[in-house]
Amino acid sequence: MRRMVAEHRLHPAELILPVFVRDGISEPVPVSSMPGVVQHTRETLKKAAAEAVRAGVGGIMLFGVPKDSDKDAVGTAGTDPQGILQVALRDVRAEVGDDIVIMSDLCLDETTDHGHCGVLDAQGRVDNDATLERYAEMACVQAEAGAHMLGPSGMMDGQVGHVRRALDAAGHQDVSLFAYTAKYASAFYGPFREAVGSSLKGDRNTYQQNAANSREALRELSLDVAEGADVVMVKPGLPYLDVLRDFAEQSTVPVGVYQISGEYAMVEAAAQNGWLDRDRAIMETLTSFKRAGANMILTYWATEVAARL
Ligand code: PBG
Repeated sequence: MRRMVAEHRLHPAELILPVFVRDGISEPVPVSSMPGVVQHTRETLKKAAAEAVRAGVGGIMLFGVPKDSDKDAVGTAGTDPQGILQVALRDVRAEVGDDIVIMSDLCLDETTDHGHCGVLDAQGRVDNDATLERYAEMACVQAEAGAHMLGPSGMMDGQVGHVRRALDAAGHQDVSLFAYTAKYASAFYGPFREAVGSSLKGDRNTYQQNAANSREALRELSLDVAEGADVVMVKPGLPYLDVLRDFAEQSTVPVGVYQISGEYAMVEAAAQNGWLDRDRAIMETLTSFKRAGANMILTYWATEVAARL
């Protein structure tokens, strides 16, 4: 009866698996702050994608980790058709085709030597409009490599509209945008920085949102929808369930939430210590996103949970 009257339930198709693929490695490299998560080789990434498809996972979001020696001030590896993310997109598209939505992170932090999500001006500040030009170029390269959907995650003003116009002009009308709409400057991104080998010093407070504010999230929502976002996202998840609920009530496009690296690490670390029941904790966090109104969830547990479901 408890099952029958449940108001919300999870479905594999609404889960999205974020994955890391690293250039120049022959074996997967474990991410120590995210037990169970690895930086994939091109080969193991293909296996992970096929496994996600078999489990019924709806989408896979690729993050590329170039060699340190390939990082530079403008993130050239992000627009090089031979850059690791582009190569991996072609691999995954060839492996699983259209059986899963193939997405790619559209941001510069993985490919810049300073680790910021954009290019810097002479004063060392992120240059919003110069960054948009880099995003436009990256978007077309990722679309050509086979991405179905791009995830602009840099929180630059105007990024959705700019990328949309660039894609349309290049004939990529069918490539859609999963906009990181309300992305907060969060301590919970800590483990991700290890996962992508980020060299960031300082913080992202000039372009990501302040945890104290929800109004600006709603402003971002109306802007992103007007600029052509196909899906909007709230990120992180658990500390921002109220923002997720606001989005669920007000958005005219589907709403996603990203259960980020630090949220994953908290549960895994506590479970390793025997401090909580891992499987129950995972399902409870995911169910809380559904209750708050999420239509889809990015989670590093996507394949495991989909298989269990
Ligand atoms: C930016 C990006 C970040 C994450 C996804 N895309 C890091 C950041 O903004 O600092 C974090 C994801 C996670 O922590 O799991 N490219």
